[in-house]
Amino acid sequence: MSSINLRTAVPGPRSRAVFAERVKHVAPGPFHTTPIVAERAEGATITDVDGNTFLDFACGIGVANLGHSEPSVVAAAKAQADKFFHTSINVVAYEGYVDVARRLNERAPGDFAKKTFLANSGAEAVENAIKFARAFTKRQAVICFEHAFHGRTYMAMALTGKANPYKSGFGPFPAEIYRAPFPDFYRWPGVDGEAPVCPGKLPCSLSRCLCSEAFARFIEIAQADIGETNVAAVIIEPVTGEGGFIPVPAPFLRMLREWCDKHGVVLIFDEIQTGFGRTGTLFACEQSGVAPDLLVLAKGLANGLPLSAVVGKAEVIDAVGVGGVGGTYAGNPVACAAALAVMDKFDDPKTLEHARQLGRLLEDRLESWCKKFPKIGQVRGLGPMRAMELVKDRATKEPDKPAAAALVKHNYENGVITLSCGTHGNVLRFLIPLIATEEQLNEGLDVIEVGLAKLG
Ligand SMILES: Cc1ncc(COP(=O)(O)O)c(C=O)c1O
Repeated sequence: MSSINLRTAVPGPRSRAVFAERVKHVAPGPFHTTPIVAERAEGATITDVDGNTFLDFACGIGVANLGHSEPSVVAAAKAQADKFFHTSINVVAYEGYVDVARRLNERAPGDFAKKTFLANSGAEAVENAIKFARAFTKRQAVICFEHAFHGRTYMAMALTGKANPYKSGFGPFPAEIYRAPFPDFYRWPGVDGEAPVCPGKLPCSLSRCLCSEAFARFIEIAQADIGETNVAAVIIEPVTGEGGFIPVPAPFLRMLREWCDKHGVVLIFDEIQTGFGRTGTLFACEQSGVAPDLLVLAKGLANGLPLSAVVGKAEVIDAVGVGGVGGTYAGNPVACAAALAVMDKFDDPKTLEHARQLGRLLEDRLESWCKKFPKIGQVRGLGPMRAMELVKDRATKEPDKPAAAALVKHNYENGVITLSCGTHGNVLRFLIPLIATEEQLNEGLDVIEVGLAKLG
């Protein structure tokens, strides 16, 4: 039985009417990928106000990893809502906050004592991770990377590596931020263009050699521009999210780890998009064997309620004294209850096994498309966090942003919600609910394949 059920042309009349009101009353800043207005959402589907049901391959930007309205998460949130919404952890504590912290400490990678700080959004957690690192090291400089996206508040925005639409017109930005080249070997100088190979599949020797090249450039910046003893933190996404789903090769993460250890620098992994099963393991960094000093989480943590976390070395977290971090709503009780239910789900090995199976099926399908459609420059990713980069020409690799936009439009008009991403806006990414059935995955991919064929 198919999941997609379209009763009207998309957008339908009720969606169009709400959109007209949105344009009148809502700030234009928040982007809108589809003109669809949701009525309800369940599992891997969203039904709009016109009665059209879509497969959701966007998950509210990688949030509803366990699917929409996952019954155990909804029940946990409802039970907490019946008790109380809010006391503020700063005033009267509650068990949920402490339980979330304990369980994240137990589950986060790294064989050392850990502590956790909770906040509301990803950007807020990034801001606080930098505060912990600076307070601990008593240094100021932060090294981030090309293609990074860390959020929209001032520090997070400054760390982000894409001017438009995220940064233009909003300066000045906080000082002491330095950007290193990202090990993107698809577009690395000297790497031949015709081979659309996922970075994870480069031959080992070539990958090591390119990682050393990329790392040499990182060291140049750290030594010459900053001076190692001034560096407080290095922050990186193990797979870029908004930056185009480019996985960081494991050797590069290991080099960063060794360098940070040598120079007393706090290594921060932003796993806001990669966390909670998105790459087939609870955290993406588990697949590289590298543990950060601070792990930044949000999105899938509470499967849709606003909650974020900085989990890390107890000594780093302890460097900020009482009152130095916090927030009225930080670690909301209802969101904490949802997060505990999310963690219960991930404690069942079947959840991640299924995610990995979806990842394998998606990878096979994308690789078969790569052979068929020259519009695809590269397919890449880690586990079910996968994407394809669309180009005008495989040899020149000129990004094809209009093609990505056309494909997103074709997809939602035919019942599949998808998102583009990438520094050049030319990447179609897959953020499939990790509970989608294989039939749902294939049904959605069939729709997308028709769209790809239309692109030529
Ligand atoms: C890797 C990464 N970091 C930070 C953020 C910012 O999170 P939020 O939108 O919750 O502030 C995002 C959001 O997409 C993200 O993908």
